[in-house]
Amino acid sequence: TCIPAGVDDPKDELQELLRTGEYIDRSGVRLVKYDGFWFPVRVFRAILSTQKYFKAKHTDIILSTLPKSGTTWLKALTFAIVNRHLYPTDQSPLLTSNPHKLVHNFEYGVYLMQENPDLEQIPNPRIFSTHMPFNVIPDSICKSECKIIYICRNPLDQFTSFWNFLLKNDVGKDVDPSAIDVAFGMFCKGYFSFGPFWDHMLGYWNAHMNNSHKVLFLKYEDLKEDTTFYIKKIAEFIGFPFTLEEERHGVIKQISSLCSFENLSDLDVNKTGNTSIFKNSSFFRKGEIGDWINYLTPQMSERMKELMKSKLEASGLKF
Ligand code: A3P
Repeated sequence: TCIPAGVDDPKDELQELLRTGEYIDRSGVRLVKYDGFWFPVRVFRAILSTQKYFKAKHTDIILSTLPKSGTTWLKALTFAIVNRHLYPTDQSPLLTSNPHKLVHNFEYGVYLMQENPDLEQIPNPRIFSTHMPFNVIPDSICKSECKIIYICRNPLDQFTSFWNFLLKNDVGKDVDPSAIDVAFGMFCKGYFSFGPFWDHMLGYWNAHMNNSHKVLFLKYEDLKEDTTFYIKKIAEFIGFPFTLEEERHGVIKQISSLCSFENLSDLDVNKTGNTSIFKNSSFFRKGEIGDWINYLTPQMSERMKELMKSKLEASGLKF
């Protein structure tokens, strides 16, 4: 189970932490340390509010990820699976809204502007997303029967995706594009939003190993290699399994095509506009496995191999 953070007053906790906390400035983003993880200061108040106020319902679906691990894709797929009876594929809201507008993130959306928004009116099942580590998510999520889907990605590709995302957005406007080695060094030391990445992955991995009905653990690479299989798996996990008739009518294939990188990245809505402080277009770059080879040196990849061996090998989690 998750450890309750025991936060009584988000504002006071925030002020206390900001006074006494440990900080690091990483690639244009100020991070503060809390419960062993690094959080962007900008969303820290919203994290404390989520912990304090979010009341999970048994029907909720929580999508959890590290940034740049496949969040946008997982949002699109889960939304499409859950709402497939409401909209035919050619009328899906995904064709006219960015996935981040259809599935809201706790700390960058729901709790960013309002401390305790009314979420009761949202139709069930509610789908939310978060980058919070497992030990920081609200206790009410762990106590309810709601489902958590976690997706992670090979850290070399995740870092490469992050680096490109940073340079495309305002938050990275002062970042030196040639300083990728410095940024990679920090990533490997754990200085990454919601990092260290290995502890983030291990938190959800262990939770999945303890209770696989509560936490579904996915990898971007697996989803890419057998999208149909994992769409079925997600649907079963959240209690929306496909019928044989749906399978025969190609509904899974339709969802897979609707949510594919090729389809989503080509929609006007995803080529323009913003979500939070990020350009919608920056959430779609290449959508490939192994693009790190075009950015990172063999020495960097060797360093990552050693790091993953020391941090992940014992858990059985591999990329
Ligand atoms: P790349 O930068 O490697 O292309 P997140 O959604 O967590 O921010 O992650 C963004 C990464 O997921 C980017 O990776 C992006 O291109 C990729 N992505 C976005 N939508 C996708 C989709 N529908 N299918 C596969 N990959 C997708």
